[in-house]
Amino acid sequence: MFRAFFVSLSDTMNKEQIARNVSRFTMQAEPTVNKRKIIIAIDGFSSCGKSTMAKALARKLGYRYIDSGAMYRAITLFIQQHGITLEELNKMTAPQLERLMDHIHISFHLNPETGLSEVYLNDENVEEKIRSLKVSDWVSPVSAIPEIRNRMVALQQSYGKQKGIVMDGRDIGTRVFKEAELKIFMIANKSIRAKRRFDELNEKGFMVTIDEVTKNIEDRDYTDTHRSESPLRQAEDAVVLDNSEMDQDQQLEFTLEQLRKLNVEV
Ligand code: DC
Repeated sequence: MFRAFFVSLSDTMNKEQIARNVSRFTMQAEPTVNKRKIIIAIDGFSSCGKSTMAKALARKLGYRYIDSGAMYRAITLFIQQHGITLEELNKMTAPQLERLMDHIHISFHLNPETGLSEVYLNDENVEEKIRSLKVSDWVSPVSAIPEIRNRMVALQQSYGKQKGIVMDGRDIGTRVFKEAELKIFMIANKSIRAKRRFDELNEKGFMVTIDEVTKNIEDRDYTDTHRSESPLRQAEDAVVLDNSEMDQDQQLEFTLEQLRKLNVEV
């Protein structure tokens, strides 16, 4: 088959064309299964652009992207939908929390139009609903509860078994995947983060003010870094990416450069 391919080529093409086609042919024929797949952990503060970068990276590498924050948001939505207050939640005993979690089934399903995984709460797609400021206002205290975190961490770890995954969150490099081959810790100037989140919410039709968004970011920074269970912090082996002055292409290129240093094919 290879011979026939070359013979028919040489009839019609000059040497340069043949060389070009041969290299294209060998590239296609290369078995992709042998490509080394790794785990990429992206952590950082709220609204630093983690998910935008993680999605672009997953698309570029053909990896699966998991938004771990979406899981805590979906749980928060469930709690709000069932009229449970934060005070009640914080008073629950460990067995009560375990029983509550038994009623919450979180999963991800691929959206064939976008090629991205979307979060489902008890088989309902809640990808849009979980982005409201109402959910954002409660999600940090909800995610600080150890029984809730333990369940989510176990689920997140199960997604990494096959490798070839990009996951973003707060404790991915420090707890979920301590062994991740690449860890990125994203930071950005607070006013830039607030402006980005404000634009994103407005675009999605949520009516919010910049002051509300700024306050939410400040509150979440505080809660996420001060909780006793897996507080947000930079893993010792993480690479810091300050994207305050960077556009999306530059951020992606920065990360691809880290992968090249690890000899990962990009
Ligand atoms: O990434 P996000 O803003 O959608 O996350 C929402 C909240 O969930 C965040 O304020 C803290 C919590 N979270 C967490 O505790 N651990 C993670 N791995 C991801 C998110």
